Parts: sequence; C-alpha cells; structure tokens
Amino acid sequence: MTRRAILKGTGSALPRTRVSNAELAERVDTSDEWIVERTGIRFRHIAEPDETTATLGADAARQALEAAGLQPADVGLIIVATATPDNTFPASATKVQALLGAPDCIAFDVAAVCSGFLYAVSVADAMLRTGAAKHALVIGSETFSRILDWEDRTTCVLFGDGAGAVVLSAEDVADDRGILATRLHAEGQYSDMLYVDGGPSTTGTVGHVRMQGREVFRHAVTNLAAVLGEVMAEVGLSADDIDWVVPHQANKRIIDATAKKLGLPADRVVLTVDRHANTSAASVPLALDLAVRDGRIQRGDLVVLEAMGGGFTWGAAVLRI
Ligand code: UT7
Repeated sequence: MTRRAILKGTGSALPRTRVSNAELAERVDTSDEWIVERTGIRFRHIAEPDETTATLGADAARQALEAAGLQPADVGLIIVATATPDNTFPASATKVQALLGAPDCIAFDVAAVCSGFLYAVSVADAMLRTGAAKHALVIGSETFSRILDWEDRTTCVLFGDGAGAVVLSAEDVADDRGILATRLHAEGQYSDMLYVDGGPSTTGTVGHVRMQGREVFRHAVTNLAAVLGEVMAEVGLSADDIDWVVPHQANKRIIDATAKKLGLPADRVVLTVDRHANTSAASVPLALDLAVRDGRIQRGDLVVLEAMGGGFTWGAAVLRI
C-alpha cells in the first residue's frame, strides 16, 4: 500500500457578470477579431464589488466538498493560491475557512501567480502524504480585474476572475490512483517580464499588471513543454498514456504550441480560455472542474496539469483520477 493524495471532488465559481470582447472594445482600442485571433479569448467574468477572492474561493470550495461527500469540519488543510488576496493579510485561506464555517485547521495562501495552483497542489500533496491532514481543500481564486490597468489594451483584454477548488484526501492505495508526480520551477531573474508595479513594501499601493507579452509567450511554450516532459519521465509514461491535459488558460496559441511540441492531439486538451480568459491561479482548477462535471474526465484517467506565470514560475502534476 502507498499513501497518496487522491482527488475526491472538484468545484468552481464564476462572477455573475460576463463581459464580451465587443464590450471591451467600447472601453479600449481593441477588437473582437484581434483578441480571438491572438488569444482565443471571447468572454471573461468580472467580479462585482461583493464578489471577492475569498467569497469566490469559498463558493468553489463548497461545491468541491459536496462532490467529495465531506463537510467543512472534515477539512484539516486549506490552501488558497492567489495573487489577488482580499487583504494584504490575513491570508485569504483563513477568510475562506471562516466563510465555510470550518473549525481549527491549517490555512495559508500560496503566491505563485498563474502557477499558484500547481504550487499549492504540490504542497498539499506533500503535507497529506506526511500526515499533516487527512482532507485538504486546494483552491485557486483570483480577482485580477482589480489589478488591471483598464487603459492598457495589451493586458486588460487578457484576464478574468474566478475560482476553482479540489478536495484531496490522503489514502493508502494498492493501485496507481492519486497524485503520481509534481515538478515546480522558478527563475526570478525574469520577474520584470510579468509583474505588478505596486505592493505594500514598495509603493504602498496595490499596483497594476505589467507584461512583456511576446517574451512571456516564448518562455511559456519552452518551459511548459519541458516540465511536462519531466513529470511524465518521472512516472515512466509517455504522451500516448495521457488521457487529458488541463493546461493553464492564458492563450490558445500557447496551449496549441505546447501540445504540438509533445505530440498531443488537441482533442485531449481541456480548453476554457475562450469563455474564462486567463484567471491566473484559478484557471487550471476551473478547467478541471468543467471537464469532470461534463463527464470528459473519468475515474481511471491519467490527467496532467500544467501552468506558467509571473516570477517566472511554472510547474506540472500527473495524477490518476
Ligand atoms: O498567465 C501568465 C502568462 N501570460 C501569458 O502567457 C501571456 C503571453 N503572451 C501572449 O499571450 C501574447 O504575447 C499576447 C496575447 C499578450 C500578445 O500577442 P502577440 O501576438 O505577442 O502580439 P504583440 O504583443 O506582438 O502585439 C502585436 C500588435 C502590436 O502592434 P504593433 O506594434 O505590431 O503595431 C500591439 O500594439 O498588436 C497590438 N496590440 C493590440 N491590438 C489590438 C496589443 N494588444 C492589442 C489589443 N488590441 N488588445
């Protein structure tokens, strides 16, 4: 028997308001044609003032707990991956805990921007296997709309808000179910290619997203293909063994180019960038929940998650559902 972190349930939450490319074109000098052709994005959800990273995260978490057949009192660990916390502190994870009514447990945030969910899954996997908790809520939740410069067409058309959550439970299994491998990377020398130009310790303001899109694009395809190769080699499997890839949803062209590099057919890649845009740490769990709920991802499937973002940070995980 091997102790592994098993995926027991998924959930997601999107803000009520959906905004089309045409609506954005009324605010900035852009067009539906440019956005669709360069990114694949058609819509994004934008949070209203009463919808925050914590409230969206809690809504996604409730769904994931229900799917897992668990109560808030069963949770021993809550990790929220976010770059847009409700407050500088306390951690959004403690706010989610309070909203769920979960009693004393471990709760903290992970800041790795778009790869935050991969970092959070990797930490939860290690903590579950070493006995820190039996059941973990791992949540990616973002309200990037709050840190966008709505005058900057090169960034404001790319992002959206939302949350996704999974329940991972420690189980002793005889088969190959559960998280089989994770791999994380960071290269801080590239921090000025995708960053926020403010923060508590520098400007004392929240700041806005700044990005050198073309450079980020180039690094993303190279790094994502490499890290996918690393996790698959670690579990001794090839691209042919993968049932589903759930990639970070930044740009359809990045997703297509990465899949092509690995020889993965497009019909095994879950795509939500068209309807959610880039929701940073929420994008992978949002896409995972969609594909689980619509029946594409089934028990026994080999699923690979991957993401890359500011830092640069990037990572991947392989799991058997
Ligand atoms: O999640 C974190 C990871 N983030 C990413 O992975 C994002 C990676 N980067 C990208 O997805 C792409 O680089 C972008 C979608 C950001 C940009 O696409 P691109 O094909 O690299 O375009 P570009 O930056 O080279 O810009 C091409 C042109 C420029 O005009 P000129 O200089 O050729 O005259 C831009 O000014 O498109 C112009 N442009 C726009 N035009 C209409 C830039 N943004 C817009 C816009 N609408 N929103």
